[in-house]
Amino acid sequence: MAATDLRQLASDHLWLHFTRMGGHAPPIIVRGDGCYLSDDEGNRYLDALAGLFSVNLGYGFGDEIGKAAHEQMKELPFYTNWTYAHPRAIELAAEIASLAPGDLNRVFFVSGGSEAVEAAWKLARQYFAVRDGGAWKVGVDPGTRIPGGGSSPQKKYKAIARNIAYHGTTMGALSINGIEALRAPFEPLVPEVRHVSNTNRYHRPAGETEEQFTAVLLEELERTILEMDPETVCLVHMEPVQNAGGAFVAPAGYWAGVRALCDKYDILLSADEVITAFGRVGHWFASERYDIRPDIVTTAKGLSSSYAAIGAVVATERVMEPFLADTSMYSHGITFGGHPVMAAIALKNIEIMKREGIMEHVLSNEDAFRSTLAQLLDLPIVGDLRGAGFFYALELVKDKETRETFTDEECEHLLRGFLSHRLFERGLICRADDRGDPVIQISPPLVATQAQFDEMTGILGDVLAEAWEEMH
Ligand SMILES: Cc1ncc(COP(=O)(O)O)c(C=O)c1O
Repeated sequence: MAATDLRQLASDHLWLHFTRMGGHAPPIIVRGDGCYLSDDEGNRYLDALAGLFSVNLGYGFGDEIGKAAHEQMKELPFYTNWTYAHPRAIELAAEIASLAPGDLNRVFFVSGGSEAVEAAWKLARQYFAVRDGGAWKVGVDPGTRIPGGGSSPQKKYKAIARNIAYHGTTMGALSINGIEALRAPFEPLVPEVRHVSNTNRYHRPAGETEEQFTAVLLEELERTILEMDPETVCLVHMEPVQNAGGAFVAPAGYWAGVRALCDKYDILLSADEVITAFGRVGHWFASERYDIRPDIVTTAKGLSSSYAAIGAVVATERVMEPFLADTSMYSHGITFGGHPVMAAIALKNIEIMKREGIMEHVLSNEDAFRSTLAQLLDLPIVGDLRGAGFFYALELVKDKETRETFTDEECEHLLRGFLSHRLFERGLICRADDRGDPVIQISPPLVATQAQFDEMTGILGDVLAEAWEEMH
């Protein structure tokens, strides 16, 4: 179809996600190869965001992955995980279990990240109900309460997450989100979530050690659990490296402390690895890198390198255990969960990642990537560089000495009025984001090499220098 026709049809019919649609003429991306994308006018872009932090293998494996999808289509295009199994779901579950740390051995498939988070919270709610015998324990017919259940509400149902963290958009996942602006239009939300501080160190007092910061954070988490009543809290849900706000890595001792508090108050710890799993920080699961020891892991994007719409909730044997007894079941299901074609694609993705040595590539290049990006710290507008693996953020500041941030109006102009547009014009896709303080998020395909590190740093350097002029 001709480019002009596509534009007209887009303008007439396509409703874009998180987009101010009035007068918006979207770029039309028509092709991908390796770390690069092309639009319908033949312009080429370095995709330093890997789609949405998700095309971990890059765009170059369509042939091979397509063949796996085609074979599966011929063999069995669809069957369900409701009561039945099929070979690809079984193989993929076993593969994920073998890659996941500890006894995270039980895999429940969904179609994406929000559904995974939704399912994790529901799982935590029902886990305690079933484990503690009775209330809301359901039989074969969903909704049938086992004797003893009565009509009493679930006791442990609340969740704790962190400020500015993004966890998806379905009502449960949205309620867990720590981004006020995303939640507000949809209130009242699902009861009941409280948000604690994230691990942003950049604006902490000068001289504070990591250990001191950890102590402050853990004290707040414990206080919050106590205020909410530990008897009612079922889930602590956090990303190993928090994306929104800009690649926050936790300070020393944080994860051990969070784990200990969850144990102390009998709460399940869920690691949201929708971004961080499948290589983003050089491990199949970031929980392994940071020794998080979660009870539940949510994953999606990189599981298929986004060649398919598939996600998973991975649970430990302990979480599974009550659901193995008599008539218990996890009362949740999604038609496309474990879709055989999606599962075949994810299996092929993992096979290619192993063959191409993606984990090794990320780990052996992360220092070079970081130090290339660190050249940008010489610019007056770049206050901080943080992250790990192939997952970084640059925080932009008005004053490097005082670490003063830009006002909301200035951010609007800097990020949406200038940077996003100018970076794209220069052939670089990354995200200028102000869900927290203003940051540039960088998360390229995991096949990127020094040539791409240099290219993105070169363009960022030019454009951020212009941005400084623009703001003064
Ligand atoms: C950490 C995290 N959790 C959940 C989600 C939601 O995933 P999806 O957009 O696939 O629903 C995202 C999406 O960006 C995410 O980054």
